[in-house]
Formats: sequence, C-alpha cells, structure tokens
Amino acid sequence: MSIFETLESEVRSYSRGWPTVFDRAQGSWLYSEDGKAYLDFFAGAGALNYGHNNPVLKKALIDYISRDGVTHALDMFTVAKRDFLETLNDIILKPREMDYKVIFPGPGGANAVEAALKLARKVTGKESVINFTNAFHGMTLGALSVTGNSMKRGGAGVPLVHATPMPYDKYFDGAYPDFLYFERLLEDAGSGLNEPAAVIVETVQGEGGINAARIDWLRGLADLCHRHDLPVEVHRWLRATAGHHVDPAGSGRMGSRGAQRYVPRRQPGVRHRGRGAAHLLAGRRPGEEHQGEG
Ligand SMILES: Cc1ncc(COP(=O)(O)O)c(C=O)c1O
Repeated sequence: MSIFETLESEVRSYSRGWPTVFDRAQGSWLYSEDGKAYLDFFAGAGALNYGHNNPVLKKALIDYISRDGVTHALDMFTVAKRDFLETLNDIILKPREMDYKVIFPGPGGANAVEAALKLARKVTGKESVINFTNAFHGMTLGALSVTGNSMKRGGAGVPLVHATPMPYDKYFDGAYPDFLYFERLLEDAGSGLNEPAAVIVETVQGEGGINAARIDWLRGLADLCHRHDLPVEVHRWLRATAGHHVDPAGSGRMGSRGAQRYVPRRQPGVRHRGRGAAHLLAGRRPGEEHQGEG
C-alpha cells in the first residue's frame, strides 16, 4: 500500500479518478514519475491560466525570491502589491472606465465567493441571495449555500440557508421564457421570496456539467438585476486547458472582457477571480464608497 493510502486522509477527490503519481510539469503537459506524458486538460482547475511553469512567470518568481522579495505580508503594503494594483488599473480598469475597488481575499475561489457574499449583505443590509440550479461555488459554508449539488451540500453538516435557487439557462429546455419564474416572484409581494441581497452566477458552469449560459440569457439577467437594483456577482472562473483558455466563465469564450460586459458599468456588482488571479473587484454604486472588513 502506498503512503497516500496509509497516511493521507480520505478527504480528497481527483486522485481517486487518476491515481497516477506526477512529478514534473511544463506548459500543457504533466509527466508521471515514470516519465509518461499526460496532456493536462485539468490545469489545476483554474489555477494555471498560463500553463505549468510558464517560463516568463518562472523567471519573475526566481528573480523575486532571489532578491529576497517579501513572500508573506498578510494585507500589509508591499512593492509587489503596488505593482500589481498599478498594472491592473492601467491595463484592465482604466481603459474600460471600470470604477472598482480591489479586494484580496486569499487565493482560493471559495474565499472570493465568501467575501463577495459578505460584501453584498453588508452593503444592502439583506440576507438572502439568489443562486442558480447546478451552480458550484466552493466548499465553504457560504459557498455551499449557493451551490446546487446535493452531495456537496450534504458535506456541510448544518442547514444551508439564506439562498434561493432559480433555474439556470436552458433548465426547462426553452419550454418557458427566460426569467418568467424569477421575475414573477420578485414582483409579487405574495410570492414569499425574501428580498435578495444579490444574485450569484457562473457564466459557464463547470462542476455543474459545463453548461454555458447563452449571451442573451446573461444580458437578460443583467437587465433584470438592473431593473430591480440587485448587485450581480459574476463568477468569472478562468481555467486554462491544454495551453489555451477554455475558461468556463470569462475571457476565452466570451471576448476579451469576458462576462463582465453583460453587466452595465454603472450597475453595482462584484466580479471574482479566484485561483488564477486571486482578487475580487467590487463595483461601487455611483457616489458610494464601500468600506469595512467584509
Ligand atoms: C465555479 C467555481 N467556483 C468556486 C470554486 C471554488 O474554488 P476553490 O476550490 O479554489 O475554493 C470552484 C472550484 O472548483 C468552482 O468551480
């Protein structure tokens, strides 16, 4: 029996599906310890948008640690953080007139989701969140509460509350007009729907079975949220596969600015980019400043 079986916990997932022991990785390829090459369609489930050991990133990392650059700083100011923010501003935000604040919640996807949920609740003073059928947003309690899969939800061990699922695109195979149910419940004071703090959506569902929402559906959702003054949390989850972006929720499939362009610029909203980019952009309501630890 291997050390993985004797010592490592059962709390693991992907190594059950492919029990190979990997040793090296370069670009789109992973190599097992006996030298067999595997084309990596998984790519760290979104962490490796530029491939394994990308030479440009590798050089920058080696240079940084060789000059004893700060590797752990919590949320202290560092030269590296300043460089990142300036570059993000110059390349992404300013050219698109995006009036955003940047939050660094931690490197995981679920961290970004939790921060976005807290922020939406803090700003609106409401508790309930609208999520979608077959959504997956991570394994923490808040992220699980807006996740669809019953097996994953079952892992929580406590009731998952304060979220209401609505049908994702094509859930009824076109049998009903988009958002018929959602909008009716929102508008009907007798529906029993708690007033939502936000709507959280993956533009392309990954764990839910690679379901790509139609652009018209996303536009319809943005429009509905705009009419009802609901912040939209667009879950852009970049994933690189075999060297190019497949990107269940953003740039590669949906154009250079990804799904965010379906949310009007002045509409309050949150875009998360966990794993690969590890930051979260929080849109401001016109004239409003969001502050706090949330
Ligand atoms: C759409 C989506 N959101 C969030 C997450 C959670 O990310 P993490 O495991 O980095 O917390 C995942 C993970 O697979 C995901 O697919």
